[in-house]
Amino acid sequence: MVKEVSEMESFLQAVKVTEKVYWVGAIDWAIKDFHGYSTERGTTYNAFLILSDKITLVDTVKAPFIDEMFARISSIIDPSKIDYIISNHSEPDHSGALPETIRRVKPQKIFASLMGEKNLKAHYSIDQEITPVKTGDSVSLGNMTVDFIETRMLHWPDSMFSYLREEKVLFSQDAFGMHLASDRLFADEIEHEVLYWEAEKYFANILMPYSQQVQKLAADLPGFNLDIKTLAPDHGPLWRKNISEIIGWYVDWSAQKPENFAIVVYDTMWQSTALMARSIADGIKNSGSRVELIPLSAKDRSYVATKLLRAGALVVGSPTLNNNIFPTLSDVLTYVKGLRPKNKIGVAFGSYGWGGEAAKQVDDILKSMDVEIVSEPLRMKYVPKENDLKKCFELGAAISATLREKTK
Ligand code: FEO
Repeated sequence: MVKEVSEMESFLQAVKVTEKVYWVGAIDWAIKDFHGYSTERGTTYNAFLILSDKITLVDTVKAPFIDEMFARISSIIDPSKIDYIISNHSEPDHSGALPETIRRVKPQKIFASLMGEKNLKAHYSIDQEITPVKTGDSVSLGNMTVDFIETRMLHWPDSMFSYLREEKVLFSQDAFGMHLASDRLFADEIEHEVLYWEAEKYFANILMPYSQQVQKLAADLPGFNLDIKTLAPDHGPLWRKNISEIIGWYVDWSAQKPENFAIVVYDTMWQSTALMARSIADGIKNSGSRVELIPLSAKDRSYVATKLLRAGALVVGSPTLNNNIFPTLSDVLTYVKGLRPKNKIGVAFGSYGWGGEAAKQVDDILKSMDVEIVSEPLRMKYVPKENDLKKCFELGAAISATLREKTK
């Protein structure tokens, strides 16, 4: 076996998943930003090797991690023995290493969905034929069989699941994944709160716009009669116990049922908008709703998106800077608008010096997101006084009253 120079120096190991399936992915401990999504706990790019008659690689890794993947593959087989490659998802964190893998391995066949075939050819120069597959199609690996299920828009048009019948493994690409680097491969080896938070964060930041498709998939999945013993997503840990738990989380989150909980997202220049935010939050709390203050000096857009998933109220405070929304608020509002949250009430507020445009602009954005507006924007000139803060407290009470009505 001839190894590439960089992999000759590596002793990284594959990890056994089932009798015939091995994890041969890469762990990215250093990534902090995944196309705008903050990944404080890093991530993994999971790839899997099926040791069937036709040795099959399921997905690859992000391009810079190709040597890590090849080192892990080399710990169990000569990579040139790979016969087939299945690409479940063409986003470059799973396909970036594919063209070079094809060059090194020279597989007999490559499988992808019809859209996957198109996307891979659009991203890369791949001369080899890609065999398109669709829901209901199967491919024989000799002594084993893989079934395909297209999962369009979860979360790209090309996305699909592959199910290895004999080992009962569902390779689910991004779905049921999370950005979490760990020395532990299985979810049952990781603290439950960490799993829940990172899975919820992943859903909110990646899948929230496709909640309807998630609901449909959850309804359709039993019809495929899959006996899933291992759920193997392309990011984060694999599930071999309590698989129904994470599927149940997806059913819950995709329903976007609002809770009696408000988030007050704000930034401040000279503490006036912060003063307003605290009084509004106190009004919400004292009227019987849960509330979290989210100052953007301390938290980022991914955190806001995660909290917004279950919140019933989005309350947004921006000071006016040069006749505009404060830049951190513009960033967050642009981001969460793209995630198309449903079933929210909301209101805008903010302090200003002379123009006072920001709160009105925030109000316009909330309306464009189909947020049900509780009241006109609450604006205060320079520093709010005691009577002004009383108005903020009363606004909080009004938000809570609407929220309790909507969520009872
Ligand atoms: Fe992990 Fe959509 O790629």
